[in-house]
Order: sequence, then structure tokens, then C-alpha cells
Amino acid sequence: MPHEFVPGLEGVPIAESAISFVDGLKGVLEYRGIRIENLAEHSTYEETAHLLLKGDLPDQAALGSLIHELANHRRLESQIIDLLKCLPEYGHPMDALQAAIAALGMFHPARDVTKDAENHLSCIRLIAKLPSIVSAFERFRNGAEILSPREDLGHTANFLYTLTGVEPNHVSVKALDVCLILHADHTMNASTFSGRVTGSTLADPYTVVSSAVGTLSGPLHGGANEQVLDMLREIGSVQNAETYIENKMANKDRIMGFGHRVYKTKDPRAIILRRLADEMTEEHGSTELYEIALRVDEIVTERLGEKGIFANVDFYSGIVYDALGIRSDAFTPIFAMGRVAGWLAHWLEQLIDNRIFRPTQIYAGEHDIPYRPAEQRGGKSS
Ligand code: CMC
Repeated sequence: MPHEFVPGLEGVPIAESAISFVDGLKGVLEYRGIRIENLAEHSTYEETAHLLLKGDLPDQAALGSLIHELANHRRLESQIIDLLKCLPEYGHPMDALQAAIAALGMFHPARDVTKDAENHLSCIRLIAKLPSIVSAFERFRNGAEILSPREDLGHTANFLYTLTGVEPNHVSVKALDVCLILHADHTMNASTFSGRVTGSTLADPYTVVSSAVGTLSGPLHGGANEQVLDMLREIGSVQNAETYIENKMANKDRIMGFGHRVYKTKDPRAIILRRLADEMTEEHGSTELYEIALRVDEIVTERLGEKGIFANVDFYSGIVYDALGIRSDAFTPIFAMGRVAGWLAHWLEQLIDNRIFRPTQIYAGEHDIPYRPAEQRGGKSS
């Protein structure tokens, strides 16, 4: 039995998977063998979700039926809306999302994980309802009326409509759709691993996805996109960028939106998102925030590029969401709306040849300590 402790499980395979592939030295990402650049340019989120879940791109009939199923399952139960309204409007939207997904499972008793048809339905419900939860909480905390989903709109267009109350234009829909595609899967990242661990206990998929949402929320993972915007706002002007980054580096602080466990070259998703951010700023006019971002990217690449630290997916996604008028603490829930397809694909793959995750540890404590009553205690822990 191997007993070597590998912090952060770096380089330790925990599954055999055919869902996505990353070459961190060449900057390659594929879903089911298809390059992410091709999917971003030609595909839609619905198609990409099918690809991840079923293993191939859908033909016209399968795509039509998926679009129809997703549209049919967008509506939230009134109790889920009531639940969201009971939460504090100053609370974080990721907490609201995690709570609502966990509660959603209570409305769907047909979730025997040994039945393919039930698993398929759970996948549809989760992919369809996550955007409805995100937009409902967003509108509630802004004091706006919660809107019913529209079955005549596609997955991403409907989300933007229920979020803003306005039917979105083609450019905004395509931009957000690309973001959802880019976020849809990324091999064995922390939240996917978390979902697979939960799935390995044969827990239901709502529990699987809510545990993955909790893991995604941290600032070292999906929570970084929100922190990037906070950082750019704190920098405040292009002129301040250099001093700000130098201070961060002198204090050995992390620069949010940079670095990756696997990529030691440019993250291909960041390259696509930067292009998208360029297009959006051309359309709407450049913002100071974007100019600051470009300068930060330049400085960090200059200073840390030789260590293999470059902008990651979270650096430019926030710029795109900001241009769409989305508040920064709603960025990570949008990441989750994309990643849910990947989490579910990994959950289904885990179930095929499941064995419960039960790793080991290297015990570093003491043994045979006598029990002493409280009045006789003192010392280090009291
Ligand atoms: N800023 C400055 N230095 C960094 C950064 C950064 N963002 N990331 C890594 N480093 C340095 C780190 O200080 C260490 O230097 P040294 O060897 O001199 O001690 C070296 O690079 C290796 O760092 P590590 O902590 O061993 O790397 P890791 O693989 O454990 O962590 C990471 C990966 C993504 C958590 C890390 O790069 C980080 O904290 N980045 C900032 C947060 C962020 O942007 N997260 C989003 C990741 S991508 C999307 C996602 O997963 O959600």
C-alpha cells in the first residue's frame, strides 16, 4: 500500500475518465475529444451539455428533444421560491444556490440512482433549474418581481431574460453561452472531485450537485472570479496597477485570476474569454476596468510568466459578466450554471464502476493519553 502523502493530491489520479482532457503544457482543453475552441465557436450550451453527459454531440432530433425537456423543467416549485425569499437578501448567492439545490431534491422523490431514466430526469431538472434559482434570488435581493421562465427562449437567453426582465440581444446571448460552454467541465478540479466523492456514497444527484456548489464557492476555485473584479476596482486606475501588483508580490499574496494547478502556459479558456471581452468592449466601448485588467495581465505575465503563472479562466470571465450588467457576487453562481453539466457527467461516470472513496491519512497525533476530569485539566488546550 502506498503511504506517501501528496498535499493537494497533486498529480494523483482518482478516476479513469473519458469526459474531458487537459494538456497543461500545450494549453489544450477538450470535451470528449473536441477542442474547446471549436465548441466555443460553433456549439451551444445545450449541445455541449449533451456531449458531456451522453458522450457525443446530439443529432437534430436529440438536440430538439433536449431543448424541449430543458424548457419544460425550468419552472421552480413555489416552495423553492418561498425558500429563497426567506433567505437574507444580503447573503451570498452561492449559499442561496447551494441551499435551494439541496431543497430541490426533496421535491423529486424519483431519484433511485440505479435507474437510468430517473438519473436522466434528475440531470435535466438540475441543468434547467439552476439558472432559475440564480435569477430568482438575484431579482428577490434587488427587490424586483421574480419572473416565470419562457419556454420559447433557449437556455441562455431565458436565463438573461429572467435575470433582467428584458429579452436579450444575440450578442449578449452568444457571449454568455460561450462562458457557460467554457465552464462546463475541467477534468478533476476540486468541485468535480467533491461531487464524485459524494456520488460514490450513492447519495442522490441533488446532494452531489449541492456539495460541488459548496466546493466551487471558495476563492481558490470558482470564487476567484468575484475577487478579480473586487481587485480591479480596488486598483482603481491603470496607473495604480504596477504598484498594486508589486505590493501583492512583496507580501507574497495571491493575485486572483492567475495561476493554475495544471496549466503552466496560457489557459485556453482565458484566451477565448479575452477575445470575447475585446469584442464586447468594442461593441459597448472600453471600460476603465477592462483597461486595468489588460495592464494587470501584462504586469503579472512579465513578472510571473516564467514560473508558469498566467491568467486563468476566472480572470476574464468577470469582465464579460460585468459588461452584461451582472453583479460580481453572482459570477460564481453563473460558473456553477455552466459546470453543472460536467458535475453530472462525472457523477454518471462514477456510478458505472463505483467504489466509495475512502482514502487514508498519516496519523500525526499522540497515543494512550489518559482521561482527566475537567477540574484537573490545564495546559495547551485550556
Ligand atoms: N499569484 C501569485 N503567486 C502564485 C499564484 C497567484 N495567483 N498562484 C500560484 N502562485 C505561486 C505560489 O506562491 C507558489 O510559489 P512558490 O513556489 O514560490 O511558493 C507557486 O506559484 C505554486 O503555487 P501553489 O499554491 O503550489 O499552486 P497550486 O497548484 O496549489 O494552486 C491555485 C493553484 C489556482 C489555487 C493558485 O494558482 C491560486 O491560488 N490562484 C489564485 C486563485 C485563482 O485564481 N483561482 C482560480 C483557479 S482557475 C479556475 C478554478 O479552478 O476555479
